[in-house]
Amino acid sequence: MSCPPKSDDLVFFVNGRKVIERNADPEVTLLNFLRKNLRLTGTKYACGRGGCGACTVMVSKHDPVSAKIRHFSITACLVPICSLYGAAVTTVEGIGSINTRLHPVQERIARSHGTQCGFCTPGMVMSMYTLLRNHLQPSEEQLMEALGGNLCRCTGYRPILASGRTFCVESTDCQKKRTGKCCLDLGGNDSSSLSRESDICTDLFVEEEFQPLDPTQELIFPPELLRMAKNPEKQTLTFHGERVTWISPGTLKDLLELKAKHPEAPLILGNTSLGPAMKSQGRVHPILLSPARISELSMVFKTSDGLTIGAGCSLAQVKDILAEQVSELPEEKTQTYRALLKHLKSLAGQQIRNMASLGGHVISRHCYSDLNPILVVGNATLNVISEEGTRQIPLNDHFLAGLASADLKPEEILESVYIPHSQKWEFVSAFRQAQCQQNALADVSAGMRVILEEATDTIKELSLSYGGVGESTIGAHKSCQQLIGRPWNEPMLEEACRLLLEEVSLPGWAPGGRVEFKRTLVVSFFFKFYLEVLQELKKLVKVSDSHHYPEISDRFLSALEDFPVTGPRGVQRYQSVDSHQSLQDPVGRPIMHLSGLKHATGEAIFCDDIPMVDRELFMVLVTSTKAHAKIISIDLSEALELPGVVDVITAEDIPGTNGAEDDKLLAVDEVLCVGQIICAVVAETDVQAKRAIEKIKITYKDLEPIIFTINDAIKHNSFLCPEKKLEQGNIEEAFEKVDQIVEGEVHVGGQEHFYMETQRVIVIPKAEDKELDIYVSTQDPAHVQKTVSSTLNIPINRITCHVKRVGGGFGGKVGRPAVFGAIAAVGAIKTGRPIRLVLDREDDMLITGGRHPLFGKYKVGFMNNGRIKALDIECFINGGCTLDDSEQVTEFLILKLENAYKIRNLRFRGRACMTNLPSNTAFRGFGFPQGTLITESCITAVAAKCGLLPEEIREKNMYKTIDKTIYKQAFSPETLIRCWNECLDKSSFHSRRIQVEEFNKKNYWKKKGIAIIPMKFSVGFAATSYHQAAALVHIYTDGSVLVTHGGNELGQGIHTKMLQVASRELKLPMSYMHICETSTATVPNTIATAASIGSDVNGKAVQNACQILLKRLEPIIKKNPGGTWEDWIEAAFEQRISLSATGYFRGYKADMDWEKGEGDPFPYYVYGAACSEVEIDCLTGAHKVEGSFIQGMGLYTTEELKYSPEGVLYSRGPDEYKIPTITDVPEEFNVSLLPSSQTPLTIYSSKGLGESGMFLGSSVFFAITDAVAAACKERDIVEDFIVKSPATPEQVRMACADRFTEMIPRDDPQTFKPWSIPIA
Ligand SMILES: Cc1cc2nc3c(=O)[nH]c(=O)nc-3n(C[C@H](O)[C@H](O)[C@H](O)COP(=O)(O)OP(=O)(O)OC[C@H]3O[C@@H](n4cnc5c(N)ncnc54)[C@H](O)[C@@H]3O)c2cc1C
Ligand code: FES
Ligand code: FES
Repeated sequence: MSCPPKSDDLVFFVNGRKVIERNADPEVTLLNFLRKNLRLTGTKYACGRGGCGACTVMVSKHDPVSAKIRHFSITACLVPICSLYGAAVTTVEGIGSINTRLHPVQERIARSHGTQCGFCTPGMVMSMYTLLRNHLQPSEEQLMEALGGNLCRCTGYRPILASGRTFCVESTDCQKKRTGKCCLDLGGNDSSSLSRESDICTDLFVEEEFQPLDPTQELIFPPELLRMAKNPEKQTLTFHGERVTWISPGTLKDLLELKAKHPEAPLILGNTSLGPAMKSQGRVHPILLSPARISELSMVFKTSDGLTIGAGCSLAQVKDILAEQVSELPEEKTQTYRALLKHLKSLAGQQIRNMASLGGHVISRHCYSDLNPILVVGNATLNVISEEGTRQIPLNDHFLAGLASADLKPEEILESVYIPHSQKWEFVSAFRQAQCQQNALADVSAGMRVILEEATDTIKELSLSYGGVGESTIGAHKSCQQLIGRPWNEPMLEEACRLLLEEVSLPGWAPGGRVEFKRTLVVSFFFKFYLEVLQELKKLVKVSDSHHYPEISDRFLSALEDFPVTGPRGVQRYQSVDSHQSLQDPVGRPIMHLSGLKHATGEAIFCDDIPMVDRELFMVLVTSTKAHAKIISIDLSEALELPGVVDVITAEDIPGTNGAEDDKLLAVDEVLCVGQIICAVVAETDVQAKRAIEKIKITYKDLEPIIFTINDAIKHNSFLCPEKKLEQGNIEEAFEKVDQIVEGEVHVGGQEHFYMETQRVIVIPKAEDKELDIYVSTQDPAHVQKTVSSTLNIPINRITCHVKRVGGGFGGKVGRPAVFGAIAAVGAIKTGRPIRLVLDREDDMLITGGRHPLFGKYKVGFMNNGRIKALDIECFINGGCTLDDSEQVTEFLILKLENAYKIRNLRFRGRACMTNLPSNTAFRGFGFPQGTLITESCITAVAAKCGLLPEEIREKNMYKTIDKTIYKQAFSPETLIRCWNECLDKSSFHSRRIQVEEFNKKNYWKKKGIAIIPMKFSVGFAATSYHQAAALVHIYTDGSVLVTHGGNELGQGIHTKMLQVASRELKLPMSYMHICETSTATVPNTIATAASIGSDVNGKAVQNACQILLKRLEPIIKKNPGGTWEDWIEAAFEQRISLSATGYFRGYKADMDWEKGEGDPFPYYVYGAACSEVEIDCLTGAHKVEGSFIQGMGLYTTEELKYSPEGVLYSRGPDEYKIPTITDVPEEFNVSLLPSSQTPLTIYSSKGLGESGMFLGSSVFFAITDAVAAACKERDIVEDFIVKSPATPEQVRMACADRFTEMIPRDDPQTFKPWSIPIA
């Protein structure tokens, strides 16, 4: 291999320290450089595509145009280090540390409980920090904007925002600092008993205790960089990598010369388009030209007729420039600027807007572009330049479609974009609809402009441009042409819609799917535009009252309002501790997460933050591209020849058992799904391993049948386990006696865990006795240990699994980590070297499976008064290709289906379907959130049929007295009823219901809905062996205590809780105690930390160990009651008393006889109720929530997995799979926890709440259903009792049928192959 030519030195600063990189590789990102070269592991990898914000850092640069230092947040995973010449980078480690000084942002996010697993926290901290560097006292809007690009899967965002609000101009959070009381307690909603109770708290932190923000303490911009910026190097800098050369000229002339010499070389600015494309398509550009140092590309010119913005300006800068123009010029001149500003607010997150350039955006010509449609209708012009000179080309559809005649020549670059002012009688608007309000690519975006003949309603000029409905931005020229001269009135609207649907046509198989929804949006947007223009005309008419325009009915005006992005409000109420409780006793107090501060400083070590071990290798998995096929051959030869590749691990290398017969670790002969692991490449670096997998050639022969959907599985009788059934009463007889019967269907889509930390493991083989140390991100280290043992055929006692902390699990790290651990262990044994396996987000989503999609059919018999007499539910879950937890999920589903209702005659049946999809697995709630949606859907169906409200049906059929469940376990519903009443009361449900109805009467295009859902959730596993736990507590001679237990820290704060237990039991402050990790060497044979019982059972074990120790110490304490803890420990040691104890908890004896259909499977129940209110936009399907639980809300409203007809998962990253963002958090979100429950099976009245909240998110779903029902009623649409979850904007829009949905062409599904298929 030839050596690359000599590179220039790359100079930049990180956290105030100078970095000189002599061999900078253009392919290395800042994220990798920070983590690997500088060992700054606070900045996290979670998606690698700029979509999650986990890798956020701040970059500071001198801006040559304004001559000021610009601080901006970026996502380090998309930033090539070569782009950082002359920049200062600040990472989470650079702003504070627990060992020196914490930055106020770090302190406040931790103390406000804004961190759980902590994986997103450094990114959140850096987004907030950058905001504060630019605005010492930001507004709430700025705070929301700053955090819009950061995802968190654990906290629900509210506490993070609460911490940010403490910096805002006017902190209006409910944690009222002045009064010490929450706004809800001050009036309005205060009719509830709980809010008046003196023992109820709402404060989770004391703001006065926070250290103030002192800007003088911040890192300064390095003087050396300032000097460099003021005397800019005009010389071209070149950085040669192995495959790519980066050239950064210092002058425009040089840039143009280089472009002429390398016409095929792309210009690289933000790399937000090039970077993801290179990654997903594996494309390499041998030369990249960076115009970052060319100030001509950042110029802005304001003229009397328009604005010229340099192509190098970032979208964030463009936003500021436009905002300035809007504030300076009269409204009539800024129509296009306002439209652009509207979309710039929701385009991606702040980090992407800081990085992406205007030039890059225009030239990328993404079909989903938010800005191009507006620039097109706004008649923008591109100023292009080459060595030959300058010229202007119109930014129109021909250019965006890439037609050679309308495009830049290869040697040209875009210098700037000219956007003309608008004029009087000209109206420009922008529209977009995406899965989420913000940080989501639009399904359809549009720019619309009309010029009317002066003081008339006659169309003089009309331009309509759409994104998302074709391969590029599309203009509706023909339609526009035909409408010229027409008056702006209803007949024109009708005609326009007809023409548009003809011209902007979309085939049924169009990539991206959602075809009918998109067609509807094409006309719905035009309708919105029509109304907007009328509204504007109304204003103008006042001035020149010469013409009469059509009136808009007040009921239609709501179509014009977009949902505002508002910061959520709300409180959490919980029972305060008894005033007699000792101050040192932490139980019942809101204690900060033990690792909270370390999360916030980036010092908390996750699996992949462990420094590289000597001779470590990297493993990458090779997966099947076929859904069901015979493996004909695997050719590894080319891969093995690549530099750095050490080996490829196949099934033949496994010394022990290769998983189970029907669930192999590595495929042999046959593959059962796309994403099944076939082999694994082991190389010196991750880059080498990733390059090698592309060279492995696998040939397949397709096998039949190929089954993806539940329907097909039923047809083929393809099931993973026998049917589970529970029955009570006499269902057939009951159906004969009822007044009415309804039958319906419920389809619930799957859900991706989307833990922020993907699956990772490090296996370190030891030189002696076949011992292995495994560091793994798992909820079940004992399972990993056992699987590795059987795979390697060595005893369990040689393998030690260590879990320090897990960056989110939600069930997805119960079973799967064992597979990755075992494959990595085979690699480690074969090569004799440590192996690191870190899944990319795409691979993680492809391979691991998630929540089971469900299809349920119900038949419900009821009396006209709403009393349900008989309910028959049959449901099927899509289990994927192997059993995994599908049998247990089916059992849970069936056991929990009745939810809170007493129905005398019941029959529940459930089956797990075997399909050719990756195996679905445990997920929070274990089937309960999907199954109970059927039960609750029956309730709404009954309500609709009886003409009653759903809450009346719920109340009527709820358990009222001590009773037995369908499986004959006795329980008391007292707490359930209490929760229901509290929730009705606290949410002011009934008055809200009246307000909702009033609103709906007044608004045709927006509807509100409200729902209250009760919940009875059984905690724990229905298997006795799971109800046990052990702990090991050591007291050392200095008095310090080391606690170890069998639970894993997943973010739920189990370690914090265990120390609270130990602290109370030993009567010792928590500061004496420490938990190092969960290890199979200290506590063996642990159960998975799951099913909401981790704290209950491990807490009891810790309690037991502490009680044993205290008992041993008692005689010593009695003898010297005035002594200190240290004195007693010293004495105990002297007297040869053991200071180490194992605690054990033999928990609940669960039993369930499925033959008889009865048993006592669960130790206890938790109860709850949730009320949600939503508003939907009937024209776009958008919704805005005002109360729910976030992960559940995601399941039921936005998280949609899309599979190709070949079984390939499309949605493999945050771009395509939308978990809720900060802007999706309910506007008002109040949580109340009832005071203590008493059960001997839990520790200090703890409640297993890990999973139950998930289902309460369904109240959002039913509130949406309620709003849709209101719309349907008004439109005389008959309800069809087919329920589909998630209630995405698409579902909502299509359910609210109207003249526009009726207009769109419908396709015969038999005539084409759709882009995606529903699998539930
Ligand atoms: C997470 C994420 C979310 C996003 N969300 C949205 C969204 O909601 N809406 C939306 O519309 N877009 C969205 N985008 C796309 C984003 O707007 C574009 O990627 C971005 O504007 C491209 O700019 P860039 O500077 O990063 O281009 P680069 O990636 O640096 O370059 C892109 C292309 O432009 C060419 N180029 C750049 N400048 C010039 C020039 N001056 N002359 C000639 N050629 C040039 C390059 O040669 C290259 O081919 C998102 C992107 C990401 C990563
Ligand atoms: S890892 Fe960089 S944005 Fe997700
Ligand atoms: S705390 Fe945010 S992802 Fe876990």
